[in-house]
Formats: sequence, C-alpha cells, structure tokens
Amino acid sequence: MIGQKIVVLGTGGTIAGTAARAGDNIGYTAAQVGVEQLLAGVPGLSGLVTEQVAQIDSKDMDCAVWRALALRCAHHLDDPGVRGLVITHGTDTLEETAWFLHAVLGARKPVVLTCAMRPATALAPDGPQNLLDAVATAQAPGAAGVLAVAAGEVHGARQVQKVHPYRVNAFNSGEAGPLGWVEEGQVRWAQNQPSALDGQAQSAIEKIANVTAWPAVEIVTSHAGASGRVVDALVRDGVRGLVVACTGNGTIHHALEAALLRAQDAGVRVVRSTRCAEGRVLPKPGDRWPASDLSPVKARVALMLDLL
Ligand code: SIN
Repeated sequence: MIGQKIVVLGTGGTIAGTAARAGDNIGYTAAQVGVEQLLAGVPGLSGLVTEQVAQIDSKDMDCAVWRALALRCAHHLDDPGVRGLVITHGTDTLEETAWFLHAVLGARKPVVLTCAMRPATALAPDGPQNLLDAVATAQAPGAAGVLAVAAGEVHGARQVQKVHPYRVNAFNSGEAGPLGWVEEGQVRWAQNQPSALDGQAQSAIEKIANVTAWPAVEIVTSHAGASGRVVDALVRDGVRGLVVACTGNGTIHHALEAALLRAQDAGVRVVRSTRCAEGRVLPKPGDRWPASDLSPVKARVALMLDLL
C-alpha cells in the first residue's frame, strides 16, 4: 500500500528567481527563493514535505548536483509512505535532468519536474500554477516514472524539450505530443500515456552512488564548413565519448568525420544523434557509428552513464 506523501525537492531555477522590478521577466537572478517559501505562496501546498537539494541556475547543472538529486530521489522513493516526488528546476537543462533521473532511478512512482519561465516576482508568474499542476500530477492515478509539467502539459522524460527561450509554454514533446494535460487539478491522459514508461529505464543508482570521476563526454555539431579541430583538441584533452549532433539522418561533414575516425582510433566512443528538432536517426547497414534515438543532450547523458 503506497502512502500519500508528496515530497518537493528544490534545485533552483527561474521558478525561484527574483527581479528588482515586478514587470521584469528577463532581468532577474535565478535560484533565490527557497522551495519551502515557494510552496508557502501557493494555497493548498504549504503542508508538503520539502528539501532544498541545490539552489542553482540550471545552465550550471553538473554531475555532482545530478548525483545528489538522484540519491535524494532514491531515498524518498524507497519510503513506502511516499506517493511521488516533485522537483523544482530551471527550464534550461530540465530535459537533461529528466533523462538522467529516468535512466538512473527506473522509478515506478511519479517523479515530476516543474519549472517557470517567469521569476517568482513577476506580475503574472507561471511558477505557482506549474507547482500546483505538478503536485496534482504526482497524485494522479496512472502517473509513473519521470515526467515534466509546465504550462498545463505533462511530458515524458524521453521526448520533453525546451523549444522556446521566452514564452510561457516553452516545452513540447515534438511529434509525440504531450502525455496529458492538467485541468483544474485533474490530469487528462492522452492516448500515448504508457510511453512514459518506455521499458528502457535501467536503475543505475548503484553506479552513480560511488562514482568519483565522471567520464568526459562532449557534443560536437556537424554543420556547413565544419572542421575536425574541436574533436582533435578534445581527444588531446582526454575526452572519452563524443556525441555528434549530425545533419539530417545522421550525416557528418567529411572533415569532421575524418577527425572522428582519428578519435575512435584513440579509443573514444562516438555516437550519432540528429540536430533536427524532431524525429530521430534511422540506422542503416554500413553505418560507421551507432545512432541514438535521443536528442544530442540526452544522448550525451546516456553515453556518460554507459561509460561509467
Ligand atoms: C534556469 O534554467 O535555471 C534559468 C532559466 C529558467 O529556469 O527558465
């Protein structure tokens, strides 16, 4: 029998940001307000258990915070009294954290990331509604695994992507569409809801619990006029894995490809993803390097965990 407790873990972001002027939606400092104070401002949420795991602008997210967050998630998920978790997070790397947690937790209970595009001091902040919706999602029948909730939509860890730098509905799931919508505290699931648990989550929490050095994995982009200079420099610097944000269906500029072959000869793992906003690389016979069906930033997380 699973309990009803919802635990809210704070990591910072614009949802916890403050600006000097209420009308200022871009000139603010992220990660200023504690998670307990954020909840205190939302009717109905003040009694929830909170924990401040970090207080950062998510552009600065790193493996140390990911590790701390994953371990706290694992701790709370193990508590039979806990029904689900909500994580407040910056929008900028939310999709990477979602994929990381999906991969390492293999969570069956809901772990719901939420965020805001406007600071807590805005004239019309989006954070309070997103928080309410995230808690409603964590409590919703059928909710499971790592989810992201923003602007009334529920997205899965695999598909969710930040697609806009300013507007309030900044996230989508591309061709897949959202998993559901939050309407007045109720989640209405779309027909594709089961894809939230795509069966690929492998609990890797043991791997990261004792990690001391994370493998260096970088993303390089193939583009018109690309060269191999960045790759050669990264190899000299000891990179262990490279994700290529390829053109189209996994194609790579010949100069970059030559450098990647040199990198591979030096023992570096190479994985292809596409720089196209939607779709994925379709592998074909004779491909030199494996194709990931994830976006470049999520393929980087996957390769890093694989190399651990
Ligand atoms: C951040 O990602 O922490 C800042 C930007 C945002 O949350 O919208």
